[in-house]
Amino acid sequence: MAKVLRLGFLASGRGSNLQAILQACRDGRLKATPAVVISNNANSGALALARREALPACHLSSKTHPDPENLDQAITAILQKHGVDLVVLAGYMKMVGPLTLRTYRNRILNIHPALLPNHGGQGMYGMAVHEAVLRAGEKETGATVHLVDGVYDSGLILAQRRVPVHSDDTPDRLAARVLETEHELYVEVLRGIIEGNIKLAAMT
Ligand code: GRF
Repeated sequence: MAKVLRLGFLASGRGSNLQAILQACRDGRLKATPAVVISNNANSGALALARREALPACHLSSKTHPDPENLDQAITAILQKHGVDLVVLAGYMKMVGPLTLRTYRNRILNIHPALLPNHGGQGMYGMAVHEAVLRAGEKETGATVHLVDGVYDSGLILAQRRVPVHSDDTPDRLAARVLETEHELYVEVLRGIIEGNIKLAAMT
């Protein structure tokens, strides 16, 4: 029988993508084990959720590890200690460090609330993305799941799902519509990886 993948999450905020994935693990849509949640934000919804769910949860940031290299090592060590196979960025607002990137090469996923390569890159997060989509007069936007490669929003795209933009949309309304799609798409991509329909390149 195939090994049950162990998921490690990095999250900074609310944690709704984390919640959607945990729910899918719980109800059997995803045959994966949530192994650990790491957050750079001690007060994040994501950490609170992990604790409510009795998952291993750690706050690791420049507050706990002022030296970036030490922080990168600590993150990798925690992921390895919990036997993580796949790292899921779920609203993680920090750059992943070089050691973590090397250790989990082609095994770190991110979700972005637009159709990359449009409306991505440094500074394009949260409402800024949806404001840019509306400003550009786009008729559609969407969600993108991609591999993380050390440059913001630039890794290999694994899947995208389109979402219509309505003429009376506000950034908030658009964000809410995209977020629902993110939750579905992230679970679908993880299922694709687990079932072998989405192949990740070798790690080295
Ligand atoms: C999502 O919109 C995701 O695309 C982006 O950050 C947001 C995180 O939301 N990377 P949540 O914390 O999962 O609710």
